[in-house]
Amino acid sequence: MEELERGPVRHLIDPMDLSVEEVEELLNVAQDIINNKDKYREACKYKKLATLFYEPSTRTRLSFESAMMELGGNVLGFSSAQSSSVSKGESVEDTVRVVGQFADIIAMRHPNEGAPKLASMYSPVPIINAGDGGHNHPTQTLTDLLTIFSEKKKLDNFTIGLCGDLKFGRTVHSLIKALSRYEGVKFVLISPKELKVPGYIITEVLEPSGLSYKEVTSLEEALPELDVLYMTRVQKERFFNEADYIRLKDTYILDKKKLDNAKEDMIILHPLPRVNEIAADVDSDPRACYFKQVLYGKYIRMALILKLLGVDVK
Ligand code: CP
Repeated sequence: MEELERGPVRHLIDPMDLSVEEVEELLNVAQDIINNKDKYREACKYKKLATLFYEPSTRTRLSFESAMMELGGNVLGFSSAQSSSVSKGESVEDTVRVVGQFADIIAMRHPNEGAPKLASMYSPVPIINAGDGGHNHPTQTLTDLLTIFSEKKKLDNFTIGLCGDLKFGRTVHSLIKALSRYEGVKFVLISPKELKVPGYIITEVLEPSGLSYKEVTSLEEALPELDVLYMTRVQKERFFNEADYIRLKDTYILDKKKLDNAKEDMIILHPLPRVNEIAADVDSDPRACYFKQVLYGKYIRMALILKLLGVDVK
């Protein structure tokens, strides 16, 4: 009989669930994993990760699964609601109460904002929010922080341009929250007026932080001052009206020519998938970091799994 009583369970639902010190600890563990992979090969032997994905994913689900495998653990789960009893009407609450008997930790993606939070109230094991609607994507944020930290050697005193769909892009909301805790970060929010960041990001995150921010519409004008450019796709699946999506989807297309006006050491990030917003001719530019970013995502998820399972690797 598996043990039914467990200690206090720690979840990751919002990027702010982790203190700045805990983020630093995760970044350090991820870098140690990168440098000492063998040390971690059996760290999660006999442990199981369940990936409950009610929404499509390539990177997040597979990087979680790959992360657990590289730690010596096993994975189970579903990649669409249709292939589980959710299609018969089973609630999120019941699903995690059940899966929590089979797995030691759960990564959940759901189209409804707040669904992973609700799950965490019923789950006997840690829940990781792998993206909830247009709300948050905290493990993408950890990925982004590890990428910036590894490439720029700091998380403070730089200017970041976030470009594209700032309204529906959950990775943008989570990243702004996380970066709002570091000194001297300047935000340039580049979007058409229809896709500006939600008001709460301005009033509850940026204004209280005291950090510099501005909302602009021109990528070309913003480029010269940026140290980090974070491109995003227009989130087709969150639009109510297809005509609006078609009108806005190609507002920003970064190509090699535009990069002539960017700093030599600027880095280009994108949570991916991309559609048209970064032309293929940018991929070979040394500033393009978005495929490297995917790999950082696996290492930071390894570090997170270890932390939430309470596994300490010496
Ligand atoms: N960045 C990201 O969340 O990608 P997927 O939707 O493929 O998981």
